[in-house]
Amino acid sequence: MTLEVQPFETALGAEVSGVDLAQDLDAETFSEIEQAYNEHSVLLFRNQSIDEAQHLSFSRRFGQLEVHVLDQYLHPQHPEILIVSNVMDGERHVGIYDAGRYWHTDLSYMTVPSRGSLLYAIEVPHDEDGEPLGDTLFASTSAAYDALSEGMRSHIADLKAEFSLANRHAKLVADGDEGAELSDAHQEKAPPVVHRIVRTHPVTGRKSIYVNEGQTAGILGLPDNEARDLLTELCAHCTKPEFIYRHKWRVGDLLMWDNIPTQHLAICDYELPQRRYLHRTTLRGTPPQ
Ligand code: SIN
Repeated sequence: MTLEVQPFETALGAEVSGVDLAQDLDAETFSEIEQAYNEHSVLLFRNQSIDEAQHLSFSRRFGQLEVHVLDQYLHPQHPEILIVSNVMDGERHVGIYDAGRYWHTDLSYMTVPSRGSLLYAIEVPHDEDGEPLGDTLFASTSAAYDALSEGMRSHIADLKAEFSLANRHAKLVADGDEGAELSDAHQEKAPPVVHRIVRTHPVTGRKSIYVNEGQTAGILGLPDNEARDLLTELCAHCTKPEFIYRHKWRVGDLLMWDNIPTQHLAICDYELPQRRYLHRTTLRGTPPQ
């Protein structure tokens, strides 16, 4: 098999073909994948058939893995796998069903946010014509940064923002999500944190805008109304159509993304009995610069 990387005609993303993630990859193949990951931010591997151990083993090639703070949704045998699903076991959600309800980057509410995530599709909902539902949208926040005016770049250069899991939870509750759970123990594990709103990628050196609708609670050091307006403006800017790749899932897709120069949103346009069931691993990051 020959590895090929076909960039999408969008601001980010590429499909990688000619690779079977169930196999141990040699160093050269892995290095090509890693290079493509840094270059394109989102990589799609179609038609994969991997079990949990193979998913974990491929993910660990990129570094250490996180165990998600929302421990009620962890895979019972493999805690480094987060189950993303709307499937119920009686009254209990087997996975996080509202994971991507707002634009966000994974674990931006941690002191050291995640480097990346690898999401593997096991069941995908579809409409009566067979068209997949539950798409995931990715925005390039580095392309969004590049498109800012010089004035805005210098305005935000030294600003910091607060991020919290509680912010996401409060939004879910306000939007009527009765099942949203956030215990005191979860909040203790993930108290609010502060990050610079311009991040520099540790590998590529590219700058990106690091605020998001779901998890950014506010911008520090500005009057409240100015902070709110700036946050709204930056979030709207990051998610303009020209910065977006929309992923239509198929069973067997493994999609991996870089959480530093992107944010994502999952479209919830399906409901049971249409089942959506995916496994996610989450790569540990390095302190933001
Ligand atoms: C996530 O935010 O990690 C999940 C995205 C999705 O459900 O498509």
